[in-house]
Amino acid sequence: TGTHGTGPFIAAIDQGTTSSRCIVFDRDGRIVSVDQKEHEQIFPKPGWVEHDASEIWANVQQVVAGAVEKAGITAADVKAIGITNQRETTLMWDKTTGEPVHNAIVWQDTRTDALCKELGRNVGQDRFRRETGLPLASYFSGPKVRWLLDNVEGLRERAERGDILFGTMDSWVIWNLTGGTDGGVHVTDVTNASRTMLMSLRNLAWDERIAESMEIPVAVLPEIRSSAEVYGTAKSGALAGVPVASALGDQQAALFGQTCFSEGEAKSTYGTGTFMLMNTGNEPVNSYNGLLTTVGYRIGDQAPVYALEGSIAVTGSLVQWMRDQMGLIKSAAEIETLASSVEDNGGAYFVPAFSGLFAPYWRSDARGVIAGLTRYVTKAHIARAVLEATAWQTREITDAMTKDSGVELTALKVDGGMTSNNLLMQTLSDFLDAPVVRPMVAETTCLGAAYAAGLAVGFWPDTDALRANWRRAAEWTPRMDADTRDREYKSWLKAVERTMGWIE
Ligand code: G3P
Repeated sequence: TGTHGTGPFIAAIDQGTTSSRCIVFDRDGRIVSVDQKEHEQIFPKPGWVEHDASEIWANVQQVVAGAVEKAGITAADVKAIGITNQRETTLMWDKTTGEPVHNAIVWQDTRTDALCKELGRNVGQDRFRRETGLPLASYFSGPKVRWLLDNVEGLRERAERGDILFGTMDSWVIWNLTGGTDGGVHVTDVTNASRTMLMSLRNLAWDERIAESMEIPVAVLPEIRSSAEVYGTAKSGALAGVPVASALGDQQAALFGQTCFSEGEAKSTYGTGTFMLMNTGNEPVNSYNGLLTTVGYRIGDQAPVYALEGSIAVTGSLVQWMRDQMGLIKSAAEIETLASSVEDNGGAYFVPAFSGLFAPYWRSDARGVIAGLTRYVTKAHIARAVLEATAWQTREITDAMTKDSGVELTALKVDGGMTSNNLLMQTLSDFLDAPVVRPMVAETTCLGAAYAAGLAVGFWPDTDALRANWRRAAEWTPRMDADTRDREYKSWLKAVERTMGWIE
């Protein structure tokens, strides 16, 4: 809470992988209040990750109430609500009862890897990439929907009858917020739809032939809308009566919040995973180096803006794993202290291919390795290898971005929880051999959703007004010599090789 005006305000809801939060912003894009709640991570089998969507909806209602209360405001002070969310996570629910038919299948879940292989054989890899911009991988929603239809008893019949709705978490939150079984709107935005593997990237409409090849009835799909427009009005809760006016996948929201509105501008967000997106303007750009082609955002009926994306499945979640599963640290912040207690990685490299490898490899058959172990290695070296894993994975993606776009990286705009780790940010700058810059508001995901909602209701006039809010808070510059960097990069790439082909 800081020196904010008397309002009016915009509220943003971020339904993320590990928590849901609500942030209230003022007209200068400053944070007025925050409320946040974590939800359970459910791991039923190796490689499977689920969320309880009812728990998530309850948490969303709580954090909305919490943020409104902390700000000391009422619904009347809030001009619009923006929604942003973990992408690809897949839910199906009964439209008459509002009950989920199964836990949500989280983006990190690899249960569909065999199905993806089969689709590759029967339909062809290229077909999906050409139409949807995405490689066939267990990461995306389409195969997860197919898994639910095949594995939840009676679901296919109910879906074909039109009783079942599919949605990513944006759709689930908006449907509930706008009334649920009592008239809730069933929509998604172009950015979230672009992650389903079911949308034509050029037409921004469901590709019925792709849906058919995955045996998904189109009746379950939400209506695709732009990222910034009024979808409906909140029916109940602390913000009852306020228009719901934006939806963007969290990474696209961060691109928006970092005000990357011009072609060639890029950002990298360090959360559970890490995702670098580069604005490529009004045309989709094909990647030949393992990046995704995706929708960046679409404001109202303006032309859509596309992006190239480098996705890394495991970064912050590796630190959580060190804390929760290995018990090597007590808090996430402790990783920095532990890693700083040694000069280097002691020869150890940690490739966290827990969900297979995402960009630039797209290998669902990869699994994690720690390589280079000797009796010399301590837990402090492993902590260092954990942080280096995030930096090297980013380096692989910036290399691919440079090849695909022809644009040399001059500086990297970063945000997200892990950017408070100084050692990581310095390492990142060292490995990239480029400056790393962080803006004043590191909560760019919520900020982007707020910006889009504010534009939709005329709270901000245009994107130029938003640009004026971007202020630099911190910058790291490279200190590592080129020889060390090259030698270390080689060792990292050797360790990456070792992860592939683990699952037959
Ligand atoms: O594609 C997955 C991504 O949207 C998840 O983001 O920040 O919840 O790790 P985050």
